[in-house]
Amino acid sequence: MFDYSVDANGIATIVWNQPDRAANVLNPATFAAWFEVANKAIADDAVKGVVVASAKKDFIAGGDLESLLAVDDILDVMERGHIVNAGMRRIEKGGKPFVAAINGAALGGGLEICLGLHNRIASDNAGIKLGLPEATLGLLPGAGGTQRLPRLIGIKPATPLILTGKAMSADEALKLGILDAIVPEAGLIDAAKAMILEGRARSVQPWDERGFTFPAGASDIKMDTTFFAPQIAALHGRTLDNQPGLRNILSCIYHGSKVDIDTALLIERRYFAATVVTPEAKNTIRTGFFSMQNARKLGMRPEGFETKTFTKVGVLGAGMMGAGIAYSTAAAGIDVVLLDRDMAAAEKGKAYSAKVMDGQIRKGRKTEAQKDALLARITPTDDYATLAGCDLVIEAVFEDRGLKADVTRKAEAVLGEGAIMSSNTSTLPITGLAEASRDATRFIGLHFFSPVDKMQLVEVIVGKETSPETLAHSLDYVAAIRKVPVVVNDSRGFYATRGFRSFVAEGLAMVSEGINPALVENAARQVGMPVGPLTVQDEVSQELGYKVRKQTMTDLGNAYEPDPGHDVIFTMVEKAGRKGRKHGGGFYNYAEDGTKSLWPGIEDYYPRADQQPELAECVKRIAYIQSLEAVHCMEEGVLTDPRDADIGSILGWGFPMHRGGAISQIHSVGLPTFIAECEEMAKKYGQRFEPPALLRQMAEKGESFYAA
Ligand code: NAI
Repeated sequence: MFDYSVDANGIATIVWNQPDRAANVLNPATFAAWFEVANKAIADDAVKGVVVASAKKDFIAGGDLESLLAVDDILDVMERGHIVNAGMRRIEKGGKPFVAAINGAALGGGLEICLGLHNRIASDNAGIKLGLPEATLGLLPGAGGTQRLPRLIGIKPATPLILTGKAMSADEALKLGILDAIVPEAGLIDAAKAMILEGRARSVQPWDERGFTFPAGASDIKMDTTFFAPQIAALHGRTLDNQPGLRNILSCIYHGSKVDIDTALLIERRYFAATVVTPEAKNTIRTGFFSMQNARKLGMRPEGFETKTFTKVGVLGAGMMGAGIAYSTAAAGIDVVLLDRDMAAAEKGKAYSAKVMDGQIRKGRKTEAQKDALLARITPTDDYATLAGCDLVIEAVFEDRGLKADVTRKAEAVLGEGAIMSSNTSTLPITGLAEASRDATRFIGLHFFSPVDKMQLVEVIVGKETSPETLAHSLDYVAAIRKVPVVVNDSRGFYATRGFRSFVAEGLAMVSEGINPALVENAARQVGMPVGPLTVQDEVSQELGYKVRKQTMTDLGNAYEPDPGHDVIFTMVEKAGRKGRKHGGGFYNYAEDGTKSLWPGIEDYYPRADQQPELAECVKRIAYIQSLEAVHCMEEGVLTDPRDADIGSILGWGFPMHRGGAISQIHSVGLPTFIAECEEMAKKYGQRFEPPALLRQMAEKGESFYAA
């Protein structure tokens, strides 16, 4: 676990070197071993000071999340925390200088270990990242981070770092005073030793010095009103208090700043234990870390096919989607042929990439040279011959079956045998589109989301004939452009569109029952949705919702079943003339100054019910209907893995991470409870809340979607 040596000058070097793992990670066992070796150095009279280093690429990658996901005993967590705090305090007060020699990422508990040493230097290696990302996992730093960082650099700069979990470069950390120095990579250990030998290393932490005060002041009454009060208000406004981890971070910093370090660490320990066991933390760790990692590493990729490298990709249709796909592909270093009906349209599509890059340059994230290189990779054209040599072609022309068939044939006429043909259709089943292809086994759906450059998700849609090899290679492409894939079987609306629609339609159904639209919108926000369903519908436009339903009615004839939002959409368009934001207004009136207010006229069509439901009931209704749709998709075989359902819901339509995604929400509530609550709602709101057979079967057999 540790390589320990003492040199001729009496300097001990402790090197973290966890066996059988790519990175050093923290758990009760590694903490215990760390304290043991640190104590050995403190107790050895021959040792003057200690350098702490790592044999891995990273310094310490962070906490072992598997062990955190498994805990549910608060007292157990408190006990573990006590051991950590006591061990770290022994090092701080041991009288010998400790220097962290940071060679790579020090994240979460890794940075907290460094903060618990008296001195910190880092190498000039560009890969260095320092940060406390616990907040992004629904947690809070529990090894002293919320107390030592504010004491080291001040409450004001420390708070946003802990609340956002943002990682810093070594330069940023040096400027903030987290690092003492940055030194050349090759001389890192020697520089750390020199600090000790030359007497420049501290052996007492600032907070253990007599008369210590916080840099720029501790929390006094002025700070309470000018800093903490607005922070609390802003956090509440942003999260509606549905993320206990974030709230507890602020509490830790605030209360901890009023007391001495030992009491402060005890405060943090209590908040940490209370946070780890919350469903919000577990949901975020399960989905935000494990499922997301599985998707990014292509855990769902069929085995037995070599990874495919993409060098040239064709995009048919340079409209909104095609232009975005071209940008994301070129940004990954892949050459793109962007084809449209004429050169002007193709050029316009390419210009979109220039616009995105200009925005990035303004923010200082990209350079002119990077923009030029990216643009050089995109070849606009109206000539199919240019597609020759493409490994993959993505079709993104108008949503028209005949047109899609036509461009597919034209493209395939110039493509090599091994090339993959794909469609970005949002509604047309892939199996049907594949009929136009010369080889349906090499045809697949790649469903991107708008705006493509910002949205991380790609639904990879497997048609009836799509081969496992085509799926494997398509996943390689999605990974190459650094997006997150979920694998979906062919069906109308695939998965994300269905889930999204269930959310919006429930909001419309509530309006039709005479529920106050403000209550509907607020309930959705309370669930954690980015915006309410009525806001979304106004943006998408009632007009479009109307057209889509009309088309489906024509397609399906008598088999058409009106969805819960049908009535409101038809009323808004046909009777009220409220066709959406871009048509002058919908559920909201939009003022010239950019403000908006709910349109009172809705009451003329749907009179306000005398008895308004409780907010909590509305919240549950909006949250659960989305889970039910995900279960239907699993039941129908559209989805085969609950992790895909969770990630698709979060990245596809904004389902909140703290609920873990549409399926994790059920796991988190508990299957029997979820079923019982849905039965109650089915009585009140209709058949759509009836628990699907899959859930009942799982409950009977005592099964669950996840182990933890
Ligand atoms: P768009 O109307 O912005 O772009 C379509 C482009 O195809 C236009 O530039 C048009 O000139 C071009 N085009 C039409 N006929 C062509 C032909 N014969 N040869 C070459 N190019 C031709 O449409 P948008 O929004 O980009 O949608 C494209 C596809 O992506 C559709 O299938 C749509 O369902 C799907 N989609 C759309 C999403 C969205 O949010 N708009 C999301 C996901 C998928």
